[in-house]
Amino acid sequence: MPAEIQVLTKGLVATKLSHSMKDLFDRIIANKGPLGKWASQAEGYFVFPELEGPIGNRMKFNGKEVITWSINDYLGLGNLPEIKKVDAAAAAEHGAAYPMGARMMSGHTKLHEQLQNELADFVSKEASYLLNFGYQGVVSIIDALVSKDDVIVYDVDSHACIIDGVRLHLGKRFTYKHNDVASLEKNLERATKVAEQNGGGILVISEGVFGMRGEQGKLKEIVALKEKFNFRLMVDDAHGFGTLGKTGAGAGEEQDVQDDIDVYFATFAKSMAGIGAFVAGDKEIIDYLKYNMRSQMFAKSLPMIYVKGALKRLDMIRTMPELKAKLWENVNALQNGLRQRGFDIGTTQSCVTPVYLKGSIPEAMALVKDLRENYGIFCSIVVYPVIPKGLILLRLIPTASHTLQDVQETLDAFSAIRDRLENGTYKRLSQAVAAAMGE
Ligand SMILES: Cc1ncc(COP(=O)(O)O)c(C=O)c1O
Repeated sequence: MPAEIQVLTKGLVATKLSHSMKDLFDRIIANKGPLGKWASQAEGYFVFPELEGPIGNRMKFNGKEVITWSINDYLGLGNLPEIKKVDAAAAAEHGAAYPMGARMMSGHTKLHEQLQNELADFVSKEASYLLNFGYQGVVSIIDALVSKDDVIVYDVDSHACIIDGVRLHLGKRFTYKHNDVASLEKNLERATKVAEQNGGGILVISEGVFGMRGEQGKLKEIVALKEKFNFRLMVDDAHGFGTLGKTGAGAGEEQDVQDDIDVYFATFAKSMAGIGAFVAGDKEIIDYLKYNMRSQMFAKSLPMIYVKGALKRLDMIRTMPELKAKLWENVNALQNGLRQRGFDIGTTQSCVTPVYLKGSIPEAMALVKDLRENYGIFCSIVVYPVIPKGLILLRLIPTASHTLQDVQETLDAFSAIRDRLENGTYKRLSQAVAAAMGE
């Protein structure tokens, strides 16, 4: 390029850059993000609500008692005296900090190892490794498992932590249609071509239970594809662990394919009513993850309160099958009751109980307010863009701490709010909300 043109283009590029340069915070302040933009209408009530009192089937919201259907404490362990006793004793002995440092450096203890062994046994794997948080753990497991020559094939409706893990991947990735085995097969064909070209491998990722709609991942069908394709399967069983399978070992046990899950993940944040998570699989693979998962190598070890707490919780899950039985009594009563009353609860195959209604976002807000304030029912509400426009998803998570009386009151409340939705009550009530939102 002639020197004078180079000078010219240099000038142009420089001018362009200076024109498009902004303060980083300008965009952030102007656009608060897909959820953040609702903050002024929703915060403190629809998002970031404060549930007070002991964890359980009935808690306090806005100063009133509500039946809580959104706390993910599937087995009702959160407030059991024997659990709280162990938590408190661990805090009294170790404080909240011990052990200090990352596992690799100074944060390792025999009890971390014991918990790993017990978890591995429980989910029928050779070994397991602890993670401080499920979310970061999943991101890091995916990051550690694949290199740039490998290909990831994953369900399009995956949890954010899977999506973020895949984001770190430097190689090819394909999504398949939600729980659609034909689509998975088509994408495995594509992935196989790429992997063959690169000399890499394939990682398929599914959830054990999809937490929004409650369907189980089609693990049996996915595993069957191993006959035809060469891949490894990772399953995020956050909602399946403790709730599914004969012993509570999760969706793999339920579908009788636990041995074919190569990398099994579950969190302590749901059935275990704690914090932390684990990954389990063949010893060689877990050993590799132990030395390569950056979220664990470069982060402080899981504190002893959670380690001792998890040992106690796991023991209760193993020795008290009545907890899971009570959970399922409530799940069945709730889901059958809703179906009998003609509610659309989609295709759930787990404890997650979605109720789909038709309505706008302002109607959804008025409806939820009515449910909480006048019927004492607290559940999560999901609207567009998470689900299609015009649909309202009320999501209920039954637990072992609920009673059949809670279920009955909830069914009656749902019948009442459906009548009010259909007779236009919420449309009228929501007009002020709609105006405020500029709809
Ligand atoms: C499917 C799934 N994976 C991972 C996580 C993250 O687990 P944690 O809360 O331990 O970070 C969750 C929890 O919300 C989840 O639902």
